[in-house]
This record gives sequence, C-alpha cells and structure tokens, in this order.
Amino acid sequence: MEASHVESDLTNILYTKEEIQARVAELAAEIEKDYEGRDVLVVGVLKGAVMIMADLVRAMNKHVSMDWMAVSSYGSGTKSSGVVRILKDLDTDLMGKHVLIVEDIIDSGLTLSWLKTNLESRGPASVEICTLLRKPDAAKVQIDVKYVGYEIPTEFVVGYGLDYDEKYRNLDFIGTLAPHVYS
Ligand code: XMP
Ligand code: MG
Repeated sequence: MEASHVESDLTNILYTKEEIQARVAELAAEIEKDYEGRDVLVVGVLKGAVMIMADLVRAMNKHVSMDWMAVSSYGSGTKSSGVVRILKDLDTDLMGKHVLIVEDIIDSGLTLSWLKTNLESRGPASVEICTLLRKPDAAKVQIDVKYVGYEIPTEFVVGYGLDYDEKYRNLDFIGTLAPHVYS
C-alpha cells in the first residue's frame, strides 16, 4: 500500500520504498560475503520480519534455507518484559548450522536477547542477528547485533511488516505513526 492511502495516520515517512530496497540489498551483499562458502539458515521472526525476510533472501546470490519462529513477549502495555513464550517453534534442527535471525525492529532488545540465547542452546555453529531497525533503548541490553539497517529514534513506526494493532504491515515504506491514532 502506498503513502497516499494512510497520509492522515502518519506524521512523516521515515524511509521510502526505494530507500528500504537499497539498504536491504546492501545488507544482503554484506551477509553474502560474510557467509561465503558456508550454508546459512535464515530464521525470520513472525510476523514483523516477513517483508525484510522476503526482500533480503531474494537479494542474496547464494543458497539459503529459511525457517520461521513466532514469539510473544509478555509486558505491560507497549513495553516488553523479556519474558518470552514460543508460539511457533522452528521446524529445523540447529545442530552445527550457521543461523541468522532476521528481525524487523529491536526496541528494548529483551525479546531478541532471549531468542538468541535460546537458539544458541540448540548446538548451532553460530548465531548472528540482522535487524532492519534499531531504537536507542537497545543499547541497554548487552546484545551483539551484526547487521543493522537503520538506527531510528524512539518513536512508534509502522509499515514494511511493522504494525499497530495488526494494521499498516502492508505499507511499502516505513512511517511514524501519528499520536492521534493510538491515544
Ligand atoms: P523488544 O523486546 O526489543 O521488542 O522491546 C521488540 C518488539 O517490539 C515491537 N515494537 C514495535 N513494533 N513499531 C512496531 O510496529 C515500533 O515502533 C515498535 N517498537 C517495538 C515489535 O513487535 C518488536 O518485535
Ligand atoms: Mg510486533
């Protein structure tokens, strides 16, 4: 969906479709180079990472396997607590595999920190993280994120997989949600 259909719900466009496509292609090239000669299992975190997963793997000129996980983070309101429940686990055995977790956004970092530890306990050869967006709060949690698309301010953003109340995921760009939508 294009910007003209949701204009009044957003305060601004943070990244256009073209900017996102270009940045994702850069990340794909970096990943392709880093994993040269090695098989990689790309793990997308549902549902937000669907768009970046689809674009990232298509921009890579190498064979990859893909799998998906769904987790829910308990918390009060919009803040996550770090207490995570697996809603859908991987179908793949991670033993000896090079795993790349793909996320839409890291906010507090608590969800991903838990997820990385969880996957590391399954005997993989390595676990790295790729996120399209990262907010400043993520710095408070010790978590090594190898690939970051953009560092963004602490604002609620939607589009390109990111939702507010399950809406806006199908925007082909990323925008800042106007306060009147959620207040
Ligand atoms: P952590 O544990 O890093 O959780 O705080 C990250 C999760 O929080 C959600 N989140 C957002 N979702 N726009 C969204 O659509 C945002 O600006 C935003 N900030 C955090 C998201 O589900 C992510 O996986
Ligand atoms: Mg979400």
